Amino acid sequence: MRAVNPFREWPMRKLFIKTYGCQMNVYDSDRMADLLAPLGYGVVETPEDADMVILNTCHIREKAAEKVYSELGRLRALKDAKAESGGKMLIAVAGCVAQAEGAEIISRQPSVDMVVGPQSYHRLPEMIARVTRGCSAVLETEFPVEEKFDSLPEERISRGASAFLTVQEGCDKFCTFCVVPYTRGAEFSRPPADIEREARRLVNSGVREITLLGQNVNAYHGNGPDGKDWGLARLIRALADIDGLERLRYTTSHPRDMDDELIAAHGELEKLMPYLHLPVQSGSDRVLSAMNRQHGRDDYFRLVERIRAARKDIALSSDFIVGFPGETDKDFDDTMDLVRQVGFAGAFSFKYSPRPGTPASLESQLPDEVKHARLQSLQALLFEQQSAFNKSCEGKIFSVLFEKAGRKQGQAVGRSPYLQPVHAEGALSLIGTLHKVRIAAALPNSLRGVLVEADARTQAKEFAH
Ligand code: 5AD
Ligand code: SF4
Repeated sequence: MRAVNPFREWPMRKLFIKTYGCQMNVYDSDRMADLLAPLGYGVVETPEDADMVILNTCHIREKAAEKVYSELGRLRALKDAKAESGGKMLIAVAGCVAQAEGAEIISRQPSVDMVVGPQSYHRLPEMIARVTRGCSAVLETEFPVEEKFDSLPEERISRGASAFLTVQEGCDKFCTFCVVPYTRGAEFSRPPADIEREARRLVNSGVREITLLGQNVNAYHGNGPDGKDWGLARLIRALADIDGLERLRYTTSHPRDMDDELIAAHGELEKLMPYLHLPVQSGSDRVLSAMNRQHGRDDYFRLVERIRAARKDIALSSDFIVGFPGETDKDFDDTMDLVRQVGFAGAFSFKYSPRPGTPASLESQLPDEVKHARLQSLQALLFEQQSAFNKSCEGKIFSVLFEKAGRKQGQAVGRSPYLQPVHAEGALSLIGTLHKVRIAAALPNSLRGVLVEADARTQAKEFAH
């Protein structure tokens, strides 16, 4: 693929970014590309022959660091090949593994030129300058999160109809299994005015849907232009006023931080999509307490009830961890029971993975067979629920935001309000816009639909016969 650089025609340098992990990393990767575009870097889709490769890494579960090292081994061969032909490939490791491992990465893999933490990547241009001037490998893993957002370019490369926008970073909750408070640092919320400016720019570049991101997004607290403290609901209300912005989402939320105003916003704002990711992790009070989740199972049930009372067509998704230290069969049954009682439209579930430096990693661990068997049972139940939810969408008319061409000719793919991929024939010209679609068939992981006007025309024709 040809490298595209909207800022400069020359000298075109090829930038390859590989993103692991969460949506915040996807946002960060995009912002790194925005940052490097004025330096002549255009994004390419493979690392071969790239002038710069960034691995934007994730540390949330095991083997992340190992995966990064084996990828670095492969990149080293490409770097050597490029050097043999007289070129130079710069390799940077970014993200949470960079933050956690720091200089260790450079000593284990000397072909790495830069190690940059998630709060320091705005310094990439000067790091590149230092490396190309002949400095040895450079490392930046500080936490100047405020400085980062102030230093990123206002301009964002246009990337389609749906965009992520980070509004909050870091976490103060310290769940005992989680590395985030250590890799991403303390909670920080961007000022509402900055967020609104970024959102308007996105909308002007064709974005119709924005997903507000934060590790603990509903703990958002920014200093509003009216001098008041704005929570996430207030921020969402302000963004919902932007003309041309049709859909808003936010992720990831903590049950403790779902306040009344945010719940009410779900009932009042049509632009706020009726799909909420609300991780519960476990259905056992004992495990929730050992996880330091600061809520019990009944709190979660009550919360779900209030959210459904505010918006009756809302669907929920969640995250689950099985095999947490000390989890008994009874605890696991409680999780299965919670899933049956709540009913989820989708969910992510994981085996507990001990993370260095976190309290739960010091506890005695359950055997992998136990974790594996529990994960299988839970995933079977969640899959059943997801399939049933998709099935329940058949015959409904959804507004779909078309994002790209489908695999079949003439077909486009978009997302329903519930984030399900929806395929429809004849929708290519609709990419970048919302259109009504009648859901004709549900598959376990996607939906097939018919454009409503086309549907109406077909019916009229059938009638004429
Ligand atoms: N082991 C397994 N899963 C984890 N998660 C976070 N830390 C761990 C861990 N140590 C899961 C949680 C979280 C999601 C992003 O990743 O479910 O919500
Ligand atoms: Fe990690 Fe989320 Fe818990 Fe924060 S609230 S420690 S990000 S799981």
